[in-house]
Amino acid sequence: MGKQLAIEGGAKAVKQAGAYPTKIHVDELLELLDLWEFPAATRRTLATTIRKAAAQIKGPHLFRYYNPRPSKVEAAEKAFGKFIGSPYCLAVNSCTSALIAAMRALGIGRGDEVIVPAYTFFATAAAVGACNAIPVIADVDDTLTLDPQDVARRITPRTKAIAVVHMLGFPAQMAELKALADKHQIALIEDVAQAAGGSYRGKMLGSIGTIGCFSFDYYKVLNSGEGGFVTTSNEWLHTRAQSWHDCAACWRPNRFAAERREGELFCGENYRMSELQGAVALAQIRKAGRILNGYRTAKQRIMAALALPRGIKLNRLADKQGDTSTSMVLFMPDVEKTKWATKAMQAEGVPAGGIYDAKIKNWHIYTHWDHIMEQKAVAPDGLPWSGVKKSELPAYAMDMCPHALDYLSRSVVIGINANWTAAHARAVAEGINKVLAKV
Ligand SMILES: Cc1ncc(COP(=O)(O)O)c(C=O)c1O
Repeated sequence: MGKQLAIEGGAKAVKQAGAYPTKIHVDELLELLDLWEFPAATRRTLATTIRKAAAQIKGPHLFRYYNPRPSKVEAAEKAFGKFIGSPYCLAVNSCTSALIAAMRALGIGRGDEVIVPAYTFFATAAAVGACNAIPVIADVDDTLTLDPQDVARRITPRTKAIAVVHMLGFPAQMAELKALADKHQIALIEDVAQAAGGSYRGKMLGSIGTIGCFSFDYYKVLNSGEGGFVTTSNEWLHTRAQSWHDCAACWRPNRFAAERREGELFCGENYRMSELQGAVALAQIRKAGRILNGYRTAKQRIMAALALPRGIKLNRLADKQGDTSTSMVLFMPDVEKTKWATKAMQAEGVPAGGIYDAKIKNWHIYTHWDHIMEQKAVAPDGLPWSGVKKSELPAYAMDMCPHALDYLSRSVVIGINANWTAAHARAVAEGINKVLAKV
């Protein structure tokens, strides 16, 4: 006769729960602090204080779900949705993921076409291909964003969406593009990777189209190193994007229930944001007003002091008030003058750069997108290109978007810094003026 079982009222074999299951503790926190590069003495003081307090903490739970504490990712979603004015907001691990989740939510797949601008980071077009759909490249105009007239010319019966990109923080021509999308009953996807906090006619970018996609990678207006958000006012699209972002529609109200509506269950991927990114993103979102104010003030100061000679123009702004002001673009009379002015401004200490040079690889311009121009495929099935008849594929050619090449080859772009003081902005304006006077 053995001991009485606990299930029958006997004593439990395991009296206490084991150690808290997280393996992440103070060593990991000290590694994080290392990233902030405190002076050695401060770091040592912090390390001593933290190690002394080690016994008082359990360690963080860095997974947003099953979290015994309020999730930072969830808080970031709420804060960012409020900031953008979108009732639904999903955090993901990048804008590339956001774009794919958005397109999958819209049901975009094999054989469908999505119109993308000739000037955008390659990710916008790559996301289309990753959905096995065909990226159709449309020209940009003097706003450096999609030219609505060229978009209209490129719409076919297979077009499922227009992916508009608010490049360099400049709002795109949303009224015209939305009218086009509505007329053809296709989706308008906003790629707001470079323009978080920008607006168009009083509405925040990312809340105007069918769905908005944001990047929080290190180089963006707001960042968490890596990260992204999907915003929409359409609950169904949010549900489907959320399902796609977590492989098996795990986070439905009842995860094991049958579909509430056809199209709710499908095989997805994993684009979840971690609590580490969520915490940094949340702090950034709370500081968004200050950061944007820094950009806008610096650009206004430069603009107020700018002396534009005849023949040199700024890019046209679809909405001046809505410009995030992270950059400023000057169109030069010709390519030679562009190259000279760029170098001359750099010599003055102005953070100026050129955009397009056929000989210099730049993944922001379609002529350098070998993956598309040469129709590369990841697998022998040849997708996405084999998803339509050859005769239906767009005619990808180096000269298919002449305005993009013309404007971009004559552009000098100046990156604005949100932390510039009035004196620094004045010095930058002086450097620009000095050079422009000699063009
Ligand atoms: C216009 C645009 N779209 C998409 C992306 C992709 O963003 P992420 O790096 O978060 O995937 C970027 C990033 O540079 C971008 O500039």
